[in-house]
Amino acid sequence: MFFANPKATRQPYPEALRTIMSVEKANESRQWLAQWSRLNASATPLYELPDLAAELGVAQILLKDESQRSVLGSFKALGAPIALVRLILRTFPEQRFLPRDLLEGKHADALAGFTVISATDGNHGRALAAAAQSIGCQCHIVLHANVSIEREEAIAAYGATIVRITGNYDESVEAAAALAAAHDWIVVSDTSYEGYEVIPRDVMQGYGTISAEVLEALQADAPVTHVFLQGGVGGLAAGIASYLWEQYGERRPVFVVVEPKQADCLYQSAVEGRAAKATGSVDSVMAGLACGETSPLAWRFLEPCVDFFMTIEDDEAVTAMRRLAAGSARDIPLVAGESGVAGLAGLMHVIAAQGVAADLGIDTDSRVLVVNTEGATAPGVYAELLGESAVVVQQRQEAWTTAVGEN
Ligand SMILES: Cc1ncc(COP(=O)(O)O)c(C=O)c1O
Repeated sequence: MFFANPKATRQPYPEALRTIMSVEKANESRQWLAQWSRLNASATPLYELPDLAAELGVAQILLKDESQRSVLGSFKALGAPIALVRLILRTFPEQRFLPRDLLEGKHADALAGFTVISATDGNHGRALAAAAQSIGCQCHIVLHANVSIEREEAIAAYGATIVRITGNYDESVEAAAALAAAHDWIVVSDTSYEGYEVIPRDVMQGYGTISAEVLEALQADAPVTHVFLQGGVGGLAAGIASYLWEQYGERRPVFVVVEPKQADCLYQSAVEGRAAKATGSVDSVMAGLACGETSPLAWRFLEPCVDFFMTIEDDEAVTAMRRLAAGSARDIPLVAGESGVAGLAGLMHVIAAQGVAADLGIDTDSRVLVVNTEGATAPGVYAELLGESAVVVQQRQEAWTTAVGEN
């Protein structure tokens, strides 16, 4: 399904939005997070995939590989940790904590009784748990029925207390809010709701690091023409798109948001003209994107700048995972998880569909950016879907890199 958004504009980044999320604040988040030992020190790679670009008939495909952001395996390491730091700074202003000291656990004694909680499909919870552990505060994570045991174990490994519910993602959000109210804990969510916007804003702003690094890597190169971003509640897309919109103004790239067909809340928001709910079962192999409700705060940014909303089938994500894992003579083999490939799967879908690429202005001159938002964050699921483990793909990548180096 495709929907051309009639509300998308080409005006400069509006002042009303800049007061909420800005390049300036995103850059400050980036600077603070650079002091966290659990993030890799260097920027994540921006790979060029020339063979895939030739197959799809575009000039260039650039893939920003967030699987290499940290040991946590996804871009979410940029969100919850900075939101937690900012939350602590706001809650205890008289303490004059420094972000670096917090992330190094220097105030663990003072914060031992401070508790945060969140509902999660996996990656956000893992990032929040890891940040809470580094800082030395308490963390509870509420998991819905479809979160796999291996994702649960990966979160528990960072010391979080796990609360399992029988319902879906949206019910886990409600359960986290109820527990927080009962115990006076603070919800650190990546999605907003009425009266709850500051923390999800900080989470989204953290994702601006991805855009900042892309711009640095491109430098004098021509800007990308199209950006395909996968959508869960919309935070990733809003964090990345708002940064690029502010930087490029009217000359911003075309933004396309891609969701699983069963979890199409952003697509439905575009159709209805307001933050809306998904129409499907909200159960997808793309676990990180299996969200039933749009984040209203994210929607304020997406509605005026996303040109196109679309949905894909689960098996299209698996096809894209396989293509990246295989690599080719000129394309590095890559480990990309189920949700990680959705943007690329969207591009592949557009190229295969009659006439849609032309509607989007995609042609042989297009330079397309996609973001691999996660590696094999559920290694068992990855191996089952691809018939080979992420370790084998990693070995293929190493062999490819060596061979390229020798030529
Ligand atoms: C790997 C991955 N990609 C993309 C997303 C989508 O992010 P958002 O919910 O902010 O739209 C998620 C969300 O959990 C995710 O885990």
